Amino acid sequence: MVILGIESTCDETGVAVVEDGQKILSNVVSSSAELHQKYAGIVPEIAAREQTHVIIPVITEALSQVYPHITSQNLSSHVSFPISKIDAIAVANGPGLVGSLLIGVETAKTLALVWNKPLIPVNHLIGHVYANWLIADSSQLTEKNYEPLTVNREPIFPLVALIVSGGHTDLLLMTHHGKYKWLGGTLDDAAGEAFDKVARVLGLGYPGGPEIEKVAGSWSLVTSNQKLTTSYRLPRPLINSVNFDFSFSGLKTAVVNLVHSSQLTVYSREEIAHEFQNAICDVLVSKTIKAAKKYKVKSIIVGGGVAANNFLREKFRVKSSESGIQVFFPPKKLSIDNAAMIASAAFFHREVIDTQKLQADANLYFTASK
Ligand code: KG4
Ligand code: ZN
Repeated sequence: MVILGIESTCDETGVAVVEDGQKILSNVVSSSAELHQKYAGIVPEIAAREQTHVIIPVITEALSQVYPHITSQNLSSHVSFPISKIDAIAVANGPGLVGSLLIGVETAKTLALVWNKPLIPVNHLIGHVYANWLIADSSQLTEKNYEPLTVNREPIFPLVALIVSGGHTDLLLMTHHGKYKWLGGTLDDAAGEAFDKVARVLGLGYPGGPEIEKVAGSWSLVTSNQKLTTSYRLPRPLINSVNFDFSFSGLKTAVVNLVHSSQLTVYSREEIAHEFQNAICDVLVSKTIKAAKKYKVKSIIVGGGVAANNFLREKFRVKSSESGIQVFFPPKKLSIDNAAMIASAAFFHREVIDTQKLQADANLYFTASK
């Protein structure tokens, strides 16, 4: 089954063609991140305007990579072509920025109507979970801290899924494809949001996660060469709480206070970035493994932009192997927003909706239990 997926929940515009939920035939992403850099955060209006410009070229590019005779010049004369090749259209219909969502959702509805194809809405957060079922290409197999799926290495149900993106931090128990129970989530800032805000306080660029990872990595190098230890100690909020909720706004405030109370040097900035990354990863890993033990699962899967972080990957690898649990991460390119994960989730869920009824839902979330 070949599914054309569309992703436009935030500042990325993605279109992908995926076969049987796992084989990526094409996966094109256009990001407007550069346009937001000077504002140190996403400006929704700018993101949506950019998406209206790129959505058709991105669709054309994704199709032409699979069917080379389709080009931007002749797309209109091939309007009926995909009917025989594509079995369904999938789209992320929330959560996200409403202007951005509307562009993807209305485009998907139009294609489904014109091509007379089933339309499958996908919760963007569930899309991040399904990035773990996609088969990596050879360039990703050389990535540090990435182990590919194999016959003996596939997530096994029941499993615990940790979603860590710019807007969300959630823990799910999944008993099968499409069957999940929400265990907990953040009470305030999401993990990615905390990375972005702390990066801003430290005078680093946007998006903050990769910037913090880079600067924190420099500190690790200095400490390992000079045998220094970190002198800052930041809180690990809710690390020992009985439930599976998270809270990162206090951690962010602790960084703000630290920065305002000390004279920042290059080294102290690196040191704070390192301690912040360590603190947030301690909480994420510890609570996820606690959930895995409580529900006696053998697999943990992690998805969302923060899953691209090498420090998090390494910490999970060490802690989960101590507990005999296998942990799965998507390749980095598939951790951040993309449409292949949307097409994959649609394949495994296949909840077709009447094209006329589909609506963008900026606040789409999880029902407590499904
Ligand atoms: O999932 P995503 O691409 O978009 C949303 O659905 O929000 O996640 C974006 C978030 C941003 O907050 C970004 O700073 C964070 O993921 N991120 C990272 C890294 N790469 C992206 N956080 C930590 N380390 C990274 N390497
Ligand atoms: Zn996302």
